[in-house]
Amino acid sequence: MKINTAEFVISNSDVSKCPREPLPEYAFIGRSNVGKSSLINMLTDRKSLAKTSGRPGKTQLINHFKINENWFLVDLPGYGYARVSKQTKQTFQAFIMDYFEQREQLVCAFVLIDIRLEAQKIDLEFITYLGETEVPFCIVFTKADKISRGKVDQHVAAYRQKLLANNWAEMPPHFVTSATESTGREQLLGYIDEVNQT
Ligand code: GTP
Ligand code: MG
Repeated sequence: MKINTAEFVISNSDVSKCPREPLPEYAFIGRSNVGKSSLINMLTDRKSLAKTSGRPGKTQLINHFKINENWFLVDLPGYGYARVSKQTKQTFQAFIMDYFEQREQLVCAFVLIDIRLEAQKIDLEFITYLGETEVPFCIVFTKADKISRGKVDQHVAAYRQKLLANNWAEMPPHFVTSATESTGREQLLGYIDEVNQT
């Protein structure tokens, strides 16, 4: 898919104030610093459309980006990092849960997982929550440039085993990405394109 236009629309912490247009949207979620904002920049081929940082907790609001005038990418705050404010001591911030529970335009959540790490409890909990909330999701492994190709395959296989052990019947659609090397860009955009056409 070619990205012709990518524009920031609005940031907020209130799902009722998100754009009203009935356009399909795709949200990026995962632990703080996993690379959500970087992935959005990589996919749109815009260097600083979404704000990134080496320090966790950079994205703090729901950010809507309109793509090709007919769908949205949504950058969300990370979970699992409690420095931001006292309220974020809750595992998942209330307005993020509201977003997943109430946003009718949401077509698919992309759950980002750092390819280098063993399966983390907090991610498995979030995936379970998405399942219970009946939100379709894919898994996106990030930072694949940081390990060898062989290790990538090993880590993906280990994640699949972990999900099966957590009572998932199968691994959801998944992608291996690197924001620095644009790995996985065509696959992910192709997937979105396919879903947008159905
Ligand atoms: P929060 O908004 O704080 O939740 O973080 P985020 O998930 O949006 O992460 P962000 O995109 O800001 O990236 C965090 C750090 O990881 C930055 O220093 C990025 O440059 C780095 N990073 C993100 N993706 C990749 C990647 O694919 N490869 C490498 N090597 N670094 C990455
Ligand atoms: Mg971010």
